[in-house]
Amino acid sequence: MTVNIAMLGTGSIADDALAPALKRVAGANLWSVLSRGRDRARAFARRHGAAAPAPAHDSLETLLADPDLDAVIIATPDYLHATQAVAAAGAGKHVLTEKPMATGVEEGEAMVRACDDAGVKLAVGYHLRWHAGHRKMLTLIRAGGVGELRHMRAQWTFQAPDAGNWRARRDTASWWSLSGVGTHCLDLIRWVMVPVCGEVVSLASTISRDVWSSPNDETAVVSLRFASGATAEFCSSVLITAPSRAEVYGSDGYIRCEDTLTRRGAGAIDTHQGILEFDVADPYAGEIRDFVAAIEDHRKPEVDGREGLRNVSLLVQAVASGGARFDAQQVP
Ligand SMILES: NC(=O)c1ccc[n+]([C@@H]2O[C@H](COP(=O)([O-])OP(=O)(O)OC[C@H]3O[C@@H](n4cnc5c(N)ncnc54)[C@H](OP(=O)(O)O)[C@@H]3O)[C@@H](O)[C@H]2O)c1
Repeated sequence: MTVNIAMLGTGSIADDALAPALKRVAGANLWSVLSRGRDRARAFARRHGAAAPAPAHDSLETLLADPDLDAVIIATPDYLHATQAVAAAGAGKHVLTEKPMATGVEEGEAMVRACDDAGVKLAVGYHLRWHAGHRKMLTLIRAGGVGELRHMRAQWTFQAPDAGNWRARRDTASWWSLSGVGTHCLDLIRWVMVPVCGEVVSLASTISRDVWSSPNDETAVVSLRFASGATAEFCSSVLITAPSRAEVYGSDGYIRCEDTLTRRGAGAIDTHQGILEFDVADPYAGEIRDFVAAIEDHRKPEVDGREGLRNVSLLVQAVASGGARFDAQQVP
């Protein structure tokens, strides 16, 4: 069976990561492309070998009307994910949406409902779960390699050249650093912690927006407590160029990931017992392989809409609880 997949959006992640990854997945076929500009769609289709007889679209409606199309990958700005996913589900197409799945909880719920009602899969693109080193790390943790999980920390940042990106604006995104990279840190933490430590039971955050005066977060520092009492923290920022980092601490040891939170599937991991070797593999191919297998095997994707929705809900709470100001004059 071959799953014919359309790419919605021709931007950075679609061009650099998702379309090349699609080629590496047996049973997946880049079929068609949506762009606001037909010429951009044509160029993208040509560059990545889209297979439909007429692959280039500037209308979602005509793209979705294609009976040979099975699924879409949504790689557009966050505020478009919900409308496009609901339309795709209505046309009977499976959906893999980029993260964060929506700009708010109600939008995310509408996506889950539409895909449930249509009987199609809804997967969310958290590629870090498909990093080969992270998968080895998880196996080690689940085998008791660090003992009882006590704390986890993650940091992923980049330096934006200015506030011109759509993530910096309220009409196209709800979050800036949290949308770009913080949501990935949160997913990595949830993936490691939630199955054994239970759900997040409390959250606190500090949000800064002071360099660009953006309505959205420029730096976010978020701390979490799980049902077991274990804790976690992450920092995302659009103000700092630095290696990414993740650390897991247990009762019997630790794991430290250096520069593994990237698009590349590379970096280094060590533990209290030495280096954890892994092969570099394309994490986006892993994510798409899981999506295709979920369709073929009639099972849930590894990161389904409900998990994507919990992530969105925590991002909403992070902003709601962050940014509180106090008057330094009043501190004794
Ligand atoms: N998983 C990851 O590692 C990862 C990494 C980066 C981004 N993402 C996610 O992928 C999605 C796209 O991000 P990106 O970095 O690829 O963004 P981007 O480079 O700005 O590309 C987004 C594309 O969406 C289309 N688009 C439609 N309406 C638009 C509008 N009003 N403004 C701007 N573009 C519009 C554009 O294609 P046309 O001009 O052809 O219409 C544009 O090229 C986001 O949800 C983001 O969070 C995920």
